[in-house]
Amino acid sequence: MSRITTPDHRNFPIPRQCPFAPPLEYDRLRAAEPVSRVQLPTGGTAWLVTRYDDVRTVLSSPVFSADGTRPGFPALVPGAAQILQRPPFIRMDPPQHSFYRRMLIQDFTAKRIKTMRPGIQATVDRLLDDLLTRTPPVDLVDAFALPLSSLVICQLLGVPYDDHEFFQGRSKITVSGASTAEQFAAALGELRAYMDGLITRKQQGPGDDLMSKLVAEQLEPAGELRRDELLMMCLMLLNAGHETTANMISLGTVALLEHPDQLAALRSDPELLPGAVEELLRYLSIADLVTTRIAAEDTELSGTPIRVGEGVIALLAAADWDPAVFPEPERFDVRRGSRHHVGFGYGVHQCLGQNLARLELEIAFSSLFARIPTLQVAAPVDELPYKHGGIVYGVHELPVTW
Ligand code: HEM
Repeated sequence: MSRITTPDHRNFPIPRQCPFAPPLEYDRLRAAEPVSRVQLPTGGTAWLVTRYDDVRTVLSSPVFSADGTRPGFPALVPGAAQILQRPPFIRMDPPQHSFYRRMLIQDFTAKRIKTMRPGIQATVDRLLDDLLTRTPPVDLVDAFALPLSSLVICQLLGVPYDDHEFFQGRSKITVSGASTAEQFAAALGELRAYMDGLITRKQQGPGDDLMSKLVAEQLEPAGELRRDELLMMCLMLLNAGHETTANMISLGTVALLEHPDQLAALRSDPELLPGAVEELLRYLSIADLVTTRIAAEDTELSGTPIRVGEGVIALLAAADWDPAVFPEPERFDVRRGSRHHVGFGYGVHQCLGQNLARLELEIAFSSLFARIPTLQVAAPVDELPYKHGGIVYGVHELPVTW
């Protein structure tokens, strides 16, 4: 295949036409131009990768680097270049990446996360108790999805939930394609200052939480982490821990309500729940644009040459709707057996919080539909305020009634 040198000036991120399905353009690209060049909103260009096998290659091969400090690393949001100067470990390569990830891995194993079940269930029950005292329509994002994911990650880390308006507001700016570089820088500065203050509080009075443990064991001089490194690590966990899961809960609720046969199957056989969560992760692929990389050497993908220093975006939603791997991808089927989806990424950076996310989603959906069997979306589904243009897809508000 000949090398395409002129970038297509297509609108990127490409908006979704149907609230659930990936942009239709992904189908055309996957079939006709599986590695295609695109103009980024922040300037510069990158290669879009749309086939499942190619996406897994990009995410698992050291030829494609996650090192955000490499010149030309693709930035999708204005201001993101700033965070890439001193990135958290999600934007590092091994062995540097492994050094940080190893410090956290034992706190996110399936076994450890399982111990959080009673606590998460109690939080879900309390939120639903409160929700049911209100007069519908109620915004499910504000009353359930966001507080649940925020409360869980706050409790795990030891971040006071009372500060949620502060950090949720700032986090939103850092993942929204609509903010300016100045807004991004201001939000990041405030979040850093907040985390710095929290580290001091953990030094003075440690609690039974992950941040206190990291401060005690990993922070210099007792440990090997500089204060700014620890700070970025905690900030990444706080951010990654609530924005993604909240979007999955709200969008997943809409997807289930829009497929009443699948919801009925789930209700009659709760054993289908883990498979339903995997299918929702595949079907919605909300972190579609998160997986950015840069070529560390000259290479080739599906016949297209890629030069060292060129940016690559491994589109997760395109991979998860690749008909070669998921036949009839538009069919939402809780019995499909979709656990090999790439909704959590693939390779060394595969989501650290996936066990936690799965547990939250299982408890959230099973409790929500059991407690509110008549739940309905209180607005036309096509007209909901979807998060087009952001790094993580979702819905800003979800009015529901029952
Ligand atoms: C349904 C919810 C979630 C989705 C869809 C999701 C998706 C992803 C994806 C696609 C990646 C890979 C990024 C890359 O390769 O560049 C990732 C990494 C990561 N996620 Fe999640 N995530 C979710 C929930 C969470 C939660 C609850 C946490 C809690 C702490 C978390 C923490 C992380 C961290 C720390 C990384 C970086 C891992 C590394 O670089 O080694 N995520 N996530």
